[in-house]
Amino acid sequence: MLEDRRKRTKWFLEDRFGIFIHWGLYAIPARGEWIMTNEKISKEDYRVYFDEFDPVDYNPKAWARAAKKAGMKYAVMTAKHHDGFCLFDSKLTDYKATNTKAARDLVKEYIEAFRAEGLKVGLYYSVIDWHHQDFPHYGDRHHPERDNEDYKGRKHDFENYLKYMHGQVEELCTNYGDIDILWFDFSYDDMVGEKWEASELIKMVRSHQPNVIIDNRLEASGENSGSIMTRSPSFYAGDFASPEQIIPPSGIVDEDGNPVPWEACITMNNHWGYCSSDKSFKSSKMIIRKLVECVSKNGNLLLNVGPNARGQIPGESLEILAQIGNWMKDNGDSIYRAGKSELNKPEWGYYTQKDNKLYAHIFEASIGPLAIAIPSNIIRKARLLADGSEIKLIRPWNTMDYNDHAFINFGSPEHLTYPLPNDIDTVVELTLDND
Ligand code: GLC
Repeated sequence: MLEDRRKRTKWFLEDRFGIFIHWGLYAIPARGEWIMTNEKISKEDYRVYFDEFDPVDYNPKAWARAAKKAGMKYAVMTAKHHDGFCLFDSKLTDYKATNTKAARDLVKEYIEAFRAEGLKVGLYYSVIDWHHQDFPHYGDRHHPERDNEDYKGRKHDFENYLKYMHGQVEELCTNYGDIDILWFDFSYDDMVGEKWEASELIKMVRSHQPNVIIDNRLEASGENSGSIMTRSPSFYAGDFASPEQIIPPSGIVDEDGNPVPWEACITMNNHWGYCSSDKSFKSSKMIIRKLVECVSKNGNLLLNVGPNARGQIPGESLEILAQIGNWMKDNGDSIYRAGKSELNKPEWGYYTQKDNKLYAHIFEASIGPLAIAIPSNIIRKARLLADGSEIKLIRPWNTMDYNDHAFINFGSPEHLTYPLPNDIDTVVELTLDND
């Protein structure tokens, strides 16, 4: 089983960087994707957004181009979020994009557009549903009607909900060609694992999509990773862990110390779904550095955008994506196919490594020569990754006590201090002598 997981996740762990897209009716109230339950909005009142939904500017080809230019290699979009609204043309519900003014299968267009740009495509699907009549209402921890006495004692045919949910997942697995990632969200309390008939679900998914990569949230939430962390993961433990809004302090390994594939999902501001007032965008510099941190710990970064009601990715997000792309264009070699190095984290930044290439990601300039924690005789050459220019290995007079380190510098005289060529992350590629 672990061997199957290793094979399935190979491309995923090489690609390292993807785009998450949270989009749905909640783009209209524009206070995040949990608004229905945060503000305890009834289905009837939420309906106004369904009636109004008209994303005239939806152009997934432009989204795909922006993601590709940013250096992203795969995408995951919300086919259905917790509010139950389907961006795809499901035969099992009327509550879908084709019945809004959009009148299009938005998932189909997304998949075609991203595939055409050469990105792998994934779908997020919420196993929670605040619209379906048979999903528990009163007393459920998250449902908008959790405190509404009118629903107290109301019977919900949960089996019927499961039939619906499995049916929709089957639609997604059969109507859109190869799906690269299925991103289920999420489990809580006793709503976990077999409560979703997870074994059946996975069997069905795999019968249609043998190579699809599945996250761990049929068993987990952001709060924990589930049995993927253990020696004997359950059948539905998933192919990768999905830490949310955090980068694990030292990557993720199982009980035996074997690496577990993982992907940190991170918002660009502080919301997944579009939030018009949230301007707390992370800088591209911060995001690039966090991507490097993920890779240095054998992980991926799934960076979110929340398109607005018109179907546009917010301008701030597009700008950030473009800035990330500028850096990735020159430095992507230190990210794709790269992972954790044997060396400890240096004080000035991070190392990533692939084969005999060690990448020094330098965030902070040194005073005088900058120390690389290996002796210089095992370094064949050092180059600035961005332009291939030679970085001289130096041994100025003030380094004589530190023979177990190699030293580099960005100017001359070599023992003095110079600004870094790239103040986001200067990457030096060190080719190691492996023999
Ligand atoms: C969550 C939230 C959610 C978001 C997701 C992304 O647990 O419920 O709205 O879609 O995580 O990781």
